Amino acid sequence: MANSLQQNHSVQAAVDFIQNIQGLLPQKFQSKVAMILGSGLGSVTEQAEVLAEISYNDIPGFPETGVAGHSGSMLLTLMNNHPLIILNGRIHFYEQGEADAMAPVIATLKALGIETLILTNAAGSLLNSAPGSVMMIKDYINFTGQSPLFGVADNGRFVSMSKAYDAQYRYHLRQIAEKNDIHLAQGVYAWMVGPQFETPAEIRAIRMMGADAVGMSTVPETILARYHDMKVAALSIITNYGAGMEDVRLSHEQTLEYAPKAAAKVQILISGFLDHLYS
Ligand code: HPA
Repeated sequence: MANSLQQNHSVQAAVDFIQNIQGLLPQKFQSKVAMILGSGLGSVTEQAEVLAEISYNDIPGFPETGVAGHSGSMLLTLMNNHPLIILNGRIHFYEQGEADAMAPVIATLKALGIETLILTNAAGSLLNSAPGSVMMIKDYINFTGQSPLFGVADNGRFVSMSKAYDAQYRYHLRQIAEKNDIHLAQGVYAWMVGPQFETPAEIRAIRMMGADAVGMSTVPETILARYHDMKVAALSIITNYGAGMEDVRLSHEQTLEYAPKAAAKVQILISGFLDHLYS
């Protein structure tokens, strides 16, 4: 199967389509920052001035989305007066078993001039972070055996992952959190395939192996962004403790209930981060 990263013509069609819409805006819009919103974080867009909303379904080559809480659209926005492309909704590996589902999206962002990708997700806590809090990802462990770069033929596929999440960005986000009295933990994110939640035994195992939070996304997008030489910052919204750590039945509804509780904190962090990136 040809990897969708290699379908340059469809990336160009997506870029042309989006740039046409940018050209219709009353003011010039050129963003160097994009953000992918995780489950239940849609309210972060309420703080942004939305100049245009484009459904993924209308963008040539973009994948279709289907999870509740992910509406699937690209927003051209100003947040705190800074240009920001918001991707409201992502495609997960567990939807069709395709680790490269987001490849056309990330390639399009690169072609649009994006230099910084901010990833957000909902995640389960393995120890220290309580539901409703935010954990900045400092590193990941890929427990899926998958890569979005399977099928890519060029030597660029041998991407170094030793600095997956930019250390300077983490420093600045810590500073912004401190200034705004937001408790911001840092930890290691474990990518699990899903869509089923983990067993208590899996949670104990991945905790022993060094993970602090667990989720079903973000890592393939990190790999794709690093392949395209974009810098990455990532925030996990803790929506629950890992399976077996407390006596509740995990559900997607719980994720959608808890994620909005941290949306205001995420918005403050992103707003300050944009001030830094555009300074
Ligand atoms: N496990 C995996 N993904 C998740 C969880 C979890 O506990 N919570 C939110 N997303």
